[in-house]
Amino acid sequence: MTLFKVIRDCIMKPSTKSTSSLSTLLGGSDPAAFLRDYWQKKPLLIRQAIPGFRGLVSTEQLRSLAASEDIQSRLIVRDGKKWELQHGPFAKNFWRKLKPQSPWTLLVQELNFHLPAAEQLLERFHFIPHARVDDIMVSHACVGGGVGPHVDSYDVFLLQGPGRRRWRISGQQDLTLRTGLPLKILKSFKHEQEWILEPGDMLYLPPHYSHEGVAIDECFTYSIGFRAPSSQEWVAEFLSDFAERLEWPGHFKDPSLKFSDHPGELPQAMNQFLAKELKKLHFTSRLIADFNGRFLTNPKPHVFFNPPEKSINMLDFQQQATQHGLRLDPRTRLMYSKEAAWCNGEPLETKHGVSPALIQLADKRYIGPEQLKLTLDKSVDSATKKQIWQWWLEWHEDGWLKIDV
Ligand code: SIN
Ligand code: CO
Repeated sequence: MTLFKVIRDCIMKPSTKSTSSLSTLLGGSDPAAFLRDYWQKKPLLIRQAIPGFRGLVSTEQLRSLAASEDIQSRLIVRDGKKWELQHGPFAKNFWRKLKPQSPWTLLVQELNFHLPAAEQLLERFHFIPHARVDDIMVSHACVGGGVGPHVDSYDVFLLQGPGRRRWRISGQQDLTLRTGLPLKILKSFKHEQEWILEPGDMLYLPPHYSHEGVAIDECFTYSIGFRAPSSQEWVAEFLSDFAERLEWPGHFKDPSLKFSDHPGELPQAMNQFLAKELKKLHFTSRLIADFNGRFLTNPKPHVFFNPPEKSINMLDFQQQATQHGLRLDPRTRLMYSKEAAWCNGEPLETKHGVSPALIQLADKRYIGPEQLKLTLDKSVDSATKKQIWQWWLEWHEDGWLKIDV
């Protein structure tokens, strides 16, 4: 089945759309208070964060997604003390083989790339920088299903869809894992708090907070995850990128070399030379921002874009964009700083600062006809305007940006 068919089959009534506000979502806190008091600090249980939330997918639709090669899915089955992990895709007839006595959980990643309703759900969390967004994952479990007690390195909002799930959590220090299992399961989990979450309830957990969810009924849980690279990965990526772009003049010379009858000895002068060269290293804030911009907007390696079937010329593109507006493809990562901007790992030359049109598109991921006229006509010289249209047309050709019809 093509991805297109899967997506079309999965387009549902956007049941996440309700009039509930950000303060309802955050249990009465405004975003600033939530970030100050809970974010990265302590868990928060929010009853009826999204009142009337009925989930984003049915069992049938989820299984269609899990049958696609382009979508990452995993199945976790518990058989007594044994845990099994299988990676998708899972054929449509796979599910008949599951034994009811072994509780299972199906996990499907990156729903926000494949379902407009999931993208809309993610929009509710736009009070957190896009640079921190990972994805929306759904877990579908039969009664008793779960992935065992564990910790995640992410901040996560666990939003309960249809069915109920019991969450147990602990701020324990002992994060030792059981050995010989295909999953990272805590060896000794001693929960400190527990709740049963009903549809629309949500639990926020900071990274490395131990938790275990067990389905009370057949249920769906949506994990809205926010990541940051580990220091190890971040610094290693920076240094390797730096090395790739390095232009370093000079060469070691030793005109005052003294005779020695120990030719096997490493010359001190060579260590001193390298130490001196390394002292010249200076990572400017511009260099760091440029690396971060490219690194943090780089789509994950398995991500690909769907270019439009037909190319469009600039005139038609401008006409349609000013009539309907433009929307970033859900996989596109667009970010900016005061002086620069980056899209999907590529730097954008912004000689006269970042234009309001790009800022609007990066912040809202959408620019409507009115704002498009306003932001492009206002305080933008004709060269910048031309450049922005050029980028947008290229992004459209690459499937990064869509006309919002
Ligand atoms: C689940 O929903 O079962 C797994 C999500 C998690 O624990 O992070
Ligand atoms: Co977890």
